[in-house]
Amino acid sequence: MANPIKRIGVLTGGGDCPGLNPVIRAIVRKSYSAGLEVIGIKNGWKGLIQRDTMTLDLQSVSGILPKGGTILGTSRTNPYKDPQSLASLKANLKDLQLDAVIAIGGEDTLGASLKLYKEGVRVVGIPKTIDNDLSETDYTFGFDTAVNTAMEAIDRLHTTAESHHRIMVVEVMGRHAGWIAVHAGIAGGADVILIPEIPIKVEEVCSILRKRHERGKTFSIVVVAEGAEFEKGQTLTQDQKVDEFGHVRLGGIGQALAELIEKKTGFETRVTVLGHIQRGGSPTAFDRVLGTRFGVKAVELVLNGEFGKMVSLKGNAIVPVPIESAVKQLKTVDRDLYDIAKIFFG
Ligand code: F6P
Repeated sequence: MANPIKRIGVLTGGGDCPGLNPVIRAIVRKSYSAGLEVIGIKNGWKGLIQRDTMTLDLQSVSGILPKGGTILGTSRTNPYKDPQSLASLKANLKDLQLDAVIAIGGEDTLGASLKLYKEGVRVVGIPKTIDNDLSETDYTFGFDTAVNTAMEAIDRLHTTAESHHRIMVVEVMGRHAGWIAVHAGIAGGADVILIPEIPIKVEEVCSILRKRHERGKTFSIVVVAEGAEFEKGQTLTQDQKVDEFGHVRLGGIGQALAELIEKKTGFETRVTVLGHIQRGGSPTAFDRVLGTRFGVKAVELVLNGEFGKMVSLKGNAIVPVPIESAVKQLKTVDRDLYDIAKIFFG
């Protein structure tokens, strides 16, 4: 029989998002009621490589439910970047007497979890990202808060766009998936929504905007996802640097698009890049509840010995899925949803 679980480690990796603290709180509360000790690993995998930990008891999670960010800190550290980091991580797992690890993260953190699991580490994953681009779960926590933040920004941009008879281009995050753009765009009543899944046809965008003006609307809102690309072109990036998982920093499509729209239509156009505002602040009720359910279920998986699994939302049920299937491919926007958004273009 496998060793009984007495002590677990918890870490948050990758970009932060609202809802991480409710998950940490749920893990600690459920663990304590089950008699497990919880150690907080600071700053993602980096904390396990550097043996940087903190106590996670009932006191330390008290009052954190409404707080954005993560009390554990985070980083984009890849434990597989070099053999030395991996060796330190494994040695620290042993020294800290961690019987299992709950890793809260997106495709990178969960990808590393999967590799570690295959090497014998007992890992359970929890899907986190504002991008909502992880397969095998209907939603990741953090997404709902980001969408609501972007929607509120679009609402605000509407009033100033209308006063000045301008086109407002709003660039939102989401990496190579257009989930935030489509949800925030539908919720905010955007006149055009552009996503990475469908190349941008500038002429078509301009024609939609012209038609809208012809029917008496002198302002428009265009929502563009940071990962969207022109039909002939490539994804725009802030610079050439890549992180430890090989990702570039996306950004710039909003500005490039606004310039083209203004040049081709003659309509005055402005750009707003929402950036990290979408990742900050207090989680919505939806994210608090989802995070809480994920945290509790993850501890149950640990107790049942269901390692190599990730908790996921399917319909209204929280179920375990193999981490392997969650990270296999990116979950992109489904066409049915985009078709609904298109009904409101122009
Ligand atoms: O994955 C979450 C995310 O916010 C993406 O939407 C965005 O492209 C990226 O992280 C930004 O990363 P960083 O915080 O490292 O600038």
